[in-house]
Amino acid sequence: MNVLQRRPLLIGNWKMNGSAELGAEMAAVLGEAMPELSAVDIVVSPPATLISVLIEGLRQTPVAVGAQNCHPEPAGAFTGEISAPLLKSAGCSYVIVGHSERRSLFAEDDALVADKCAAALTSGLVPVVCVGETLTQRKKGETESVIRQQIDAIIERLERPDLERIVVAYEPVWAIGTGVSASAEQAQPVHGLLRSRLADVCDSSGIRILYGGSMKPGNAAELLVMPDIDGGLIGGAALAAESFLGICRAAAELC
Ligand code: 13P
Repeated sequence: MNVLQRRPLLIGNWKMNGSAELGAEMAAVLGEAMPELSAVDIVVSPPATLISVLIEGLRQTPVAVGAQNCHPEPAGAFTGEISAPLLKSAGCSYVIVGHSERRSLFAEDDALVADKCAAALTSGLVPVVCVGETLTQRKKGETESVIRQQIDAIIERLERPDLERIVVAYEPVWAIGTGVSASAEQAQPVHGLLRSRLADVCDSSGIRILYGGSMKPGNAAELLVMPDIDGGLIGGAALAAESFLGICRAAAELC
């Protein structure tokens, strides 16, 4: 159909779920479907203990593996943490930073998220920077200011060529894990705002801005056809090979 402005990127964020069995199934199902998915980029982000399982299982496919978090320092006495260079040497290509669950449950602020983003880039990983407003903030009319503040922290921290290498994910907190996705009409203006804010300081025409929050095979296409929605960051629907594949197929059909 060729309606998309950028090559779509679909990332399955398993959060603290999954198993080696799911990894094997995902690798088999995606591997088999790959010929029809050649126009899209696909990433699976399992818990850290399953990264090597996925790397091995997906070795013969173009599907990449991502991590869900990294520490801003490259090495040191940070028991329990994993640095960006360690993720890179494990075979990861992407790392999610600033997911709303990390912001709200692990007290990550904009400055820390920006440091993690910079650390990822230094190590050759693509950071997937998550932004998004809560339901209360949306109801108070604060969506735009919240998004601006979150993306500005990244803009202030990075040099221009690095900014053009990031992926952004707009994940309205109220749509995450609720089964209620933002509508395309709700999401597009925020994606447009993100792209135009980035355009103030760099060439944002190639930056992929993903949507996340209850994306499913049934609603993916209507979101992905919007001019500034370039893919998805998928939670629940990425925990079953068939539904993740369904979303990847929906994107491929628009290419
Ligand atoms: P759900 O797709 O389960 O709503 O999760 C979205 C998300 O948080 C992905 O990072």
